[in-house]
Amino acid sequence: MSYVTLANKLTDLAPLCKDLLVYQNKNIEVNMYIQKITDLDKNILQWAIDLTERNMKKLYETCAWGWNKERKVEEMTDDNAFYLIAKSKSGSLLAFSHFRFDMDFGEPVLYCYEVQVEEEGRRRGLGQRVLNILETLAHGTSMRYVRLTALTHNPSAAAFFRACGYTLDETSPAKEEAAHYEILSKATSEADDQTQHCDLSKSMEAVHVTPQI
Ligand SMILES: CC(C)(COP(=O)(O)OP(=O)(O)OC[C@H]1O[C@@H](n2cnc3c(N)ncnc32)[C@H](O)[C@@H]1OP(=O)(O)O)[C@@H](O)C(=O)NCCC(=O)NCCS
Repeated sequence: MSYVTLANKLTDLAPLCKDLLVYQNKNIEVNMYIQKITDLDKNILQWAIDLTERNMKKLYETCAWGWNKERKVEEMTDDNAFYLIAKSKSGSLLAFSHFRFDMDFGEPVLYCYEVQVEEEGRRRGLGQRVLNILETLAHGTSMRYVRLTALTHNPSAAAFFRACGYTLDETSPAKEEAAHYEILSKATSEADDQTQHCDLSKSMEAVHVTPQI
């Protein structure tokens, strides 16, 4: 828990991943920055909410969760939310991730609540770069995994997360229990170093985040 507490107190995450915050590929030049929700510009937050609605509303409506904007906004404005924002050199907002440092099933994890890319920014490696940054931050703050929740009827996201090395997490519910979502994860190298702690943590009370990504 102390790793999570420490990570949540960090006011500047950029030094942990500064080499990755500039991205150039296939005619896009992108600058990225990270801010806690409390420092995030209101207009940027509104864009992130709008993009999430544009990208995800239909997918939510066609599964057991349904689309509940109020609940999504509440989730996106949690006090512990961090935002990674990607902006093109010309100033247009292209992608973001909402993530948090949290305890999940007794393990310190970086939980990726959203990764959303504007249509014009897709298939240029930007989503992958965003995940690379989250993985670097997870490693730098001693989190064991980057973990996330994915809708099972979102084939492009499934292909994307698999291509980026994410696999079914052991905490993912059985299909009979919940068929519409699954938990995916990628271990940081810390996972290998802390196997013993991991076993101890199994006996801790399971508190599962399960955000509706
Ligand atoms: C899913 C998403 C985040 C991917 O972002 P992206 O920047 O387009 O992804 P990348 O360019 O980094 O893709 C990396 C690799 O993932 C795979 N991939 C990405 N999108 C894919 C798609 N639509 N179909 C199949 N494979 C895909 C490919 O292997 C790709 O490599 P390639 O382009 O060299 O073949 C983006 O499409 C998006 O925002 N979608 C809508 C919202 C969403 O579903 N978010 C995820 C759940 S919250």
